[in-house]
Amino acid sequence: MNNHKKTIIMGIESSCDETGVAIICVENGEKIILSNTVLSQLKDHKAFGGVVPEIAARAHMQHIDTLIKAALEEASLSLENLDAVAATTGPGLIGGVMIGMMAGKSIAVTQNIPFISVNHLEAHVLTPRLTNNVEFPYLVLLVSGGHTQILIANEGGQYQCLGSTLDDALGECFDKSAKLMGLGYPGGPELEKIALECRNKEQALEKYPLPSPLKGRKGCDFSFSGLKTAVRTHVEKMQSEELNRQEIADLAYAFQVSVADILKDRCQNAISAFQNTKKQSKGKFIVCGGVAANQYLRSQLNDLCDQNNMEFIAPPLKLCSDNGAMIAWVGYEKYVRSEFSGLDIAARPRWPLDENYAINSRKN
Ligand code: KG4
Ligand code: ZN
Repeated sequence: MNNHKKTIIMGIESSCDETGVAIICVENGEKIILSNTVLSQLKDHKAFGGVVPEIAARAHMQHIDTLIKAALEEASLSLENLDAVAATTGPGLIGGVMIGMMAGKSIAVTQNIPFISVNHLEAHVLTPRLTNNVEFPYLVLLVSGGHTQILIANEGGQYQCLGSTLDDALGECFDKSAKLMGLGYPGGPELEKIALECRNKEQALEKYPLPSPLKGRKGCDFSFSGLKTAVRTHVEKMQSEELNRQEIADLAYAFQVSVADILKDRCQNAISAFQNTKKQSKGKFIVCGGVAANQYLRSQLNDLCDQNNMEFIAPPLKLCSDNGAMIAWVGYEKYVRSEFSGLDIAARPRWPLDENYAINSRKN
C-alpha cells in the first residue's frame, strides 16, 4: 500500500434512507475521519412503516449539497483538497443511488480527480479495516435491513459468500416483527430496548416458543420468515387478551434469543469452513451492518468466537449503520490500487459481492 502520501477522499452514501457524506485522510498508514455527516430520513418514512423509494430519492436530492458543504466545513477543507471522490453506485434503491453517484461524478469532473464507484455491501464489510486495522482474510457476518450474508473477505476486493438469506433479511425481520408487536419504526432498536424489560427470562421462553429455521442443517444460509410468522401467531393470540407491555417485552426477549440461536448455529458452520479453507485454527470474525448495533447479539456472537478461538470485532455503532466514511474507506482501498471508474458507469440496484454464489438471487 502507498502509505507515505497524504490521501484525502470524500465518500458519498445515498442507497437507502440515510444521506451520508464523509471525508477521510490517510497518511503514513494513519486513518483519520475528518468529517462524517449523516442525515437520517427516519421521520420522512415513519408514517409509512418502511422506506418509500420516491420519498427517499427526493430527500437525498434536497439535502446532498448541504451535506457536502457541511462535510467540507467540518474537515476545514475545500473541494480542491480532495484526491478522489467515491460514491455508492449500488446495490440499493436506484433513485437514491443515482443522486449520490451524480453528485460524486460532478465533483470528479469539476475538480479533475478520479471518481471511484463503491459497492455498498463492500463498504460495510471493509469498515473494520478503517476502524480496527484488520488484515485479510477474515470472516464477516453482514446483517442489515436489506442483506444477511456470511462472507470471507480476501485481499484485493475478492469475496467468497458462504451463505445468505433465503427470504427476509435480518433487519427486515426485526422491523416486521416489531411492527407486529406494535413498536415504533425502525423496529430493530425498539425491539432491543423493550426486550430489556423482560423480568422472567425462563418463563418468557416457555410462554413464547419460537422456531429457529435451518438450525442444525448443513451450510450457512439463513431463513427468517418462519420466525416472523410465529411472532404474528403469538401477537394475534395476545390481542384477544389485550396487548400488554410486559407480554411484548417477554416476546421480544424470546425473539432475540431465537435470532441469536440461528446466528450462532449458522456462524459456527461458517467458522469451521473458514478455519478449514484458510488452514487457521483461529482468525477474525467481524459483525457489521445496522443489526450489528444490537448489544445482545454482539455478546452472543462474542461468546461463539471465544469458543472457537476467533477474535470478535464489531465496528463502533455509528459506523455500523449507513454512513459516508465507510464509502470513503473503500474509495481509499481502490485508490491505492488505481481502480477508478469512468463517468459512464451506471448505478446497479443489485450487485452481489460474490457473483458465483448460487443463492445470491433476490436479496443480494
Ligand atoms: O445497515 P443499515 O443501517 O441499513 C441497510 O443497509 O439496510 O441497517 C438498518 C437495519 C434496520 O432494519 C434496523 O432495524 C436494524 O438495522 N437495526 C437493528 C438495531 N439497530 C438497527 N436491529 C436490531 N437491533 C438494533 N439495535
Ligand atoms: Zn447498509
